[in-house]
Amino acid sequence: MTTLREFQPDHNEFREQVLQGLRRPEKAIPCKFLYDERGSELFERICELDEYYLTRTELMIMREHAGEMARLLGKCCLLIEYGSGSSTKTRILLDRLRDPAAYVPVDISREHLVQSSQALVKRYPDLQVLPVCADYTAEYEIPRCDGEVSRRVVYFPGSTIGNFSAVEASGFLRHVTKVCGRGGALLIGVDLIKDRATLEAAYDDSRGVTALFMFNLLQRINRELDGDFQPERFRYHVFFNDELARIEMYLVSLETQRVRIGEVEIQLQEGERIHTEYSHKYSLESFRELAAAADLRVERVWTDPEKLFSLQYLVVV
Ligand code: TRP
Repeated sequence: MTTLREFQPDHNEFREQVLQGLRRPEKAIPCKFLYDERGSELFERICELDEYYLTRTELMIMREHAGEMARLLGKCCLLIEYGSGSSTKTRILLDRLRDPAAYVPVDISREHLVQSSQALVKRYPDLQVLPVCADYTAEYEIPRCDGEVSRRVVYFPGSTIGNFSAVEASGFLRHVTKVCGRGGALLIGVDLIKDRATLEAAYDDSRGVTALFMFNLLQRINRELDGDFQPERFRYHVFFNDELARIEMYLVSLETQRVRIGEVEIQLQEGERIHTEYSHKYSLESFRELAAAADLRVERVWTDPEKLFSLQYLVVV
């Protein structure tokens, strides 16, 4: 493996963005900070929960159709994956891809990226693995690789696109179009709109793992920014906003309280919420429209029999 390239948000950025978010009239903490080492571990546990249908459904679709996906991606593609995490889904694809030029995993969580890149190098000794530690919504560069590249393909599983606002999602798709260029493609996992009960259970599991994942954000602030959040003075709240087709996640203050982050004091009223995450759900039509606005054309859609989840192959037009 070549060396890891880093474009890491620094410590100051974490502090700045947290304080900025908590000073807003509607308090919020950017969700990318959920993924420190402990957060990434908790997230892996979420993916294994019964209620969290997304991961197993996406894996099932991948296993069934990876051959066709690999054919569409073609020979010698440069595969770029955003938010690669543990790369389980990627292996299904890599097992089928024909002579990929290189695999470029881009992830904000350094430990995870290093571990999974090392594991991939072991399993695919002939593959060039070029990891980049970065926030893929910010500035970073795709490393050069040896050998011929037929086209660039971004792989973006996990319905992470759902965690972007409408504006961010179109910005992201335009970024993909730019990174891949003409002839490039995007293979993306997109969660579909379904009944409220299934959706809400997926984000508020009975074992409380998702709640722990959210509370870790407060604990991370305590650990890294000298904060004094007491998680027991908050509760985790989730609901499906059907007008905007999105799951909304919050930490709600159980009482009027003051919290300190370093030298800064933040006041919270009883019942006041801190927004932590959205998970937007799409219909096939709404996603097609979003993509079209970014010059991406949906060429192929795979779903499970219950139409819970979709994988979509888009080309830059
Ligand atoms: N993108 C996935 C989703 O929206 C994973 C995810 C992101 C998630 N943030 C989350 C899952 C918070 C549970 C809770 O489902």
